[in-house]
Amino acid sequence: MRNILPSHTSSLSRLNRILSGNTFNHARFFIIVDENTYSHCLAPLITSVERIQEAEFMEVPVGEECKDLTIAQQLWETLLESGADKESVLVNLGGGCVSDLGGFVAAGFKRGIRYINIPTTLIGMVDAALGGKTAVNLGGSKNQVGFFHQPTITCIEPAFLNTLPDDELFNGIFEMLKTFLIGNPEQYQTLCDMLLGGTFEVMPDMIASCAEIKSAVVKADPKDQGIRHILNLGHTFGHAIESFSHQPDQQPLNHGMAVGVGIVCALYLSVKKLGLPQEHLDRYCQVAAKLVQLPHYTLKQTESILAYMRQDKKNAEGEIRCVLMQELGAPVIDIAVDENEIRDALIKIS
Ligand SMILES: NC(=O)c1ccc[n+]([C@@H]2O[C@H](COP(=O)([O-])OP(=O)(O)OC[C@H]3O[C@@H](n4cnc5c(N)ncnc54)[C@H](O)[C@@H]3O)[C@@H](O)[C@H]2O)c1
Ligand SMILES: [Zn+2]
Repeated sequence: MRNILPSHTSSLSRLNRILSGNTFNHARFFIIVDENTYSHCLAPLITSVERIQEAEFMEVPVGEECKDLTIAQQLWETLLESGADKESVLVNLGGGCVSDLGGFVAAGFKRGIRYINIPTTLIGMVDAALGGKTAVNLGGSKNQVGFFHQPTITCIEPAFLNTLPDDELFNGIFEMLKTFLIGNPEQYQTLCDMLLGGTFEVMPDMIASCAEIKSAVVKADPKDQGIRHILNLGHTFGHAIESFSHQPDQQPLNHGMAVGVGIVCALYLSVKKLGLPQEHLDRYCQVAAKLVQLPHYTLKQTESILAYMRQDKKNAEGEIRCVLMQELGAPVIDIAVDENEIRDALIKIS
C-alpha cells in the first residue's frame, strides 16, 4: 500500500530563499537531469525556485550508463561552451546516478565548483546525495574514479517520491533499514512495524532522520577511513550478491535489494560470532521477505558469490571483513569472517 505524499514544497521554498541570497549573487546555474527526472521533477523545481528558472539544463542517460567518463567530458565541454566559470553551480536533479556523476563533474571543473543535490529517489534522499562521495564507473567496474567533494546544499523534497516506481522505493527502504539498524533502534522498530503491517510509504520525518544519521557518520569520518565503514552493513555480501544476480540465468537484484539480502547474512553471522539475539535476525528476515523474495542458493552458487567477495575492495590482508552487529544500534566494523562462515551464511538465507 502506497499513500501519496503531500506535495508540500517547504524544502523547495527554503532552497528558493537560500539561492536568492548573497552567496549566490554571481552564480549561473546548470541543471543535470535524466529522462525521468526531466519529465517528473524539473517542472515543480522550476516553478518553486526562481533562480533556477534561468538555468540551462543538460540531460544525461538514465541509470549507470550516465556514470561514464565520456558523459562527464561532454558535460565539461558544454559547461565551457556556455561560459561557465568558478562561480557557476551545478544542480543535480535525480537519483544516485545523477548525483554521483554531477558531483564528479563539479569536482573536476575548474578544479572544483559548487553543486547542489536535489535527490529524487529514496536511495538518493537517505544515502547517495549525502556525504560527498562522487564517482564514475570504469572498465565495467563501479565507482572506480572519483573524488570526495561535498555538496554545498542537499535539498530533500519527499514529494518527488510520488512518481518513483515501487522497485526503486524498496531499493531505498533497505538502505533505510540498514541506517536505522546501525543508528536508531527505535526508528528501526517503527519502520519494521510499518512494513510488516503492509505500509510501504516512508514518512518525511523518517527520511529526515535517516539522512541525519548518515550525515553525522560522514561528519565524524568524511574520508571513509574508519567509523564511516559502519554504513557498509550488508554491503560485503550485498555487492557480491548484486554482481552474481546479473549473471545470465539469474534473477537480477538492484543494489538495495541485494544489500537487503546481504544484511540477512551479516545478521546471521552476528548471532553466531557476536551474540546478537536471534530474535533480531528472525524479525529482519520477516521484514525483508515483504520486499524481496529471499534467494535460496545452491552450493555451486555460493562458490560463485564467494569468488566475488574475495575481490571486494574492503578486504584487508587477504581477509574478508564485514560489519556485524552486537545489538541493534551497536555495529562493529572490520570483523574477519572465514570462507566457511560465508558459505554457511549464504546457504542459510531463505
Ligand atoms: N555517493 C554515494 O555515497 C552513494 C551511496 C549510495 C548509492 N550511490 C550510487 O547511487 C546509484 C543508485 O542510485 P539510484 O538508485 O537513485 O539510481 P538512479 O539515479 O539510476 O535512479 C533510479 C531510477 O529512478 C528514476 N527516477 C529518479 N527519480 C525519479 C522520480 N522522482 N520519479 C520517477 N523516476 C525517477 C531514474 O531515472 C532511474 O531510472 C548507484 O550508482 C550507486 O553507486 C552512491
Ligand atoms: Zn548501498
